[in-house]
Amino acid sequence: MKNKKIREIVKRKNKRPIVCLTAYSKTIAEILDKYCDIVLVGDSLGMVLYGMKSTREVSLDMMIKHAKSVKKGISKSILVIDMPYQTYRNKKEAYKNAKKIIKSTKCDALKLEGGEKIINIIKYLINKNIPVMGHIGLLPQSERGKFKFKGRSSFERKRIIEDARLLSKAGVFAIVIECVEESLAEIISKSISVPTIGIGASRHCDGQILVTDDLLGLSNFTPRFVKKYSNIKKMINESVLRFRHDVINKNFPSRKNIY
Ligand code: KIV
Repeated sequence: MKNKKIREIVKRKNKRPIVCLTAYSKTIAEILDKYCDIVLVGDSLGMVLYGMKSTREVSLDMMIKHAKSVKKGISKSILVIDMPYQTYRNKKEAYKNAKKIIKSTKCDALKLEGGEKIINIIKYLINKNIPVMGHIGLLPQSERGKFKFKGRSSFERKRIIEDARLLSKAGVFAIVIECVEESLAEIISKSISVPTIGIGASRHCDGQILVTDDLLGLSNFTPRFVKKYSNIKKMINESVLRFRHDVINKNFPSRKNIY
């Protein structure tokens, strides 16, 4: 693996937890870059920013546009970009699109959803020196309908454990574990050699990730795994209301705001 920052992340297994958040723009990326080890341009942007029903509607061009903006705000963190739905259906397609994303965004790595089903595609990208982050458990690109946590049945648990084992063996540098039963995330984290990054998973993961809009209280998404660290929506409401009053009462612009 050529990328030194990525090699450092692999060494963080069982050490200081890895801090990851999502960014869709330069403004947010600039702030996150100071505190995060990994910044992800997640295809969650389709639902969070564009109000889409699922991440399946997200296109390669959308991801590239947002990733270019995010890249401008990043100087030290690892920049990972999600490969959107139906852009990695076979090795050739995955490699062509992966090269396009990397060339146009200068990101450090790509994230693909799935384990066993796409393992040959992931191996192919890694063999071509493309750093890959895995994603197992709840896979939003494969879901139809309401998102439900995974790992209820022993069949499902075995499948997710096998996905993690295969991805780790294939050489991914980290694996996102999304919305699984707590003990399952712990078992996986303790049994594979690459760092695990939890979202709705377990404290025992080697790192944690959240969608930044959720932790800021900007989105309307409130599953139990999200901890809201602020209520930005309330602050925006108050600011916009004050602006409205100022405009209506002709208090804005004041002397300070004019030339
Ligand atoms: O798309 C996304 O933001 C993600 C994270 C939630 C892990 O995949």
